[in-house]
Amino acid sequence: MQTHHTIAAVRAAVQAFRAAGERVALVPTMGNLHAGHYALIATARQHAERVVASVFVNPTQFGLNEDYSRYPRTLAADQEGLARASCDALFAPDADEMYGGEPDLVQVSVPSLSASLCGEFRPGHFQGVATVVTKLFNIVAPDVAVFGEKDFQQLAVIRSLVRGLNLPIAIIGLPTVREADGVAMSSRNQYLLPDQRAVAPLIYQTLQAIARRFQSGESVETLEAYGHAQLRQVGFEIDYVAIRDALNLSTPAPDRDAVVLAAARIGTTRLIDNFRIAAQ
Ligand code: PAF
Repeated sequence: MQTHHTIAAVRAAVQAFRAAGERVALVPTMGNLHAGHYALIATARQHAERVVASVFVNPTQFGLNEDYSRYPRTLAADQEGLARASCDALFAPDADEMYGGEPDLVQVSVPSLSASLCGEFRPGHFQGVATVVTKLFNIVAPDVAVFGEKDFQQLAVIRSLVRGLNLPIAIIGLPTVREADGVAMSSRNQYLLPDQRAVAPLIYQTLQAIARRFQSGESVETLEAYGHAQLRQVGFEIDYVAIRDALNLSTPAPDRDAVVLAAARIGTTRLIDNFRIAAQ
């Protein structure tokens, strides 16, 4: 596998793929790769002859009091894993290469999807995501890009960004990969102390229970309150438990797919998860 640290080098690599008539899939990540990421790589492989992964812990999507400095950075292990997963090229720039010392020079945003849910508790987060993803799309110019559905709101933002900017990139969302006890795989799970990890499965269990009860006709208000109570009782501080339209994250409508989403903090760790609710 090739590793490139500069924009010029990864562009040259992609140009060579294209010159050979090969399609290119991009899997953007912040590294510290786990089985969820490798599922994205495997899917990318099904959609293109060449797979490019990026590893970049993007400073502009972290708030001042968030975990940017302690976010796990494991580039050597990621390189080994990506090579084993038959990734063709890794783009691993540093912040200077990506932003040239001007992180605020241009900001991309999808306002309609960025202020609610995680956006309410992480102001500026989705602008940072939309900006870095647009930059990665411009640098790599992939045919296809693959993202996990665990970050459900992020995926909605990226789909709108691609539509709004007329980018010729197919976006593929992949179902969340879970541990045996249902906990959504996340690099942040490793922050959890044993007693915190022990209660983490309750998030997914609560989302599943809410989905079932929503389908049997209970109200959004009742079920959101139930979700809060369930998670609070084992020590979570809740940012939100919310039932929304699966496409545009607005108030759910009876004949459309919905999704129940949650973000909750335990100790210093913030976990998010979601569960789709098919229209009846
Ligand atoms: O989901 C992530 O890991 C990040 O938000 C992304 C999409 C790579 C942008 O930095």
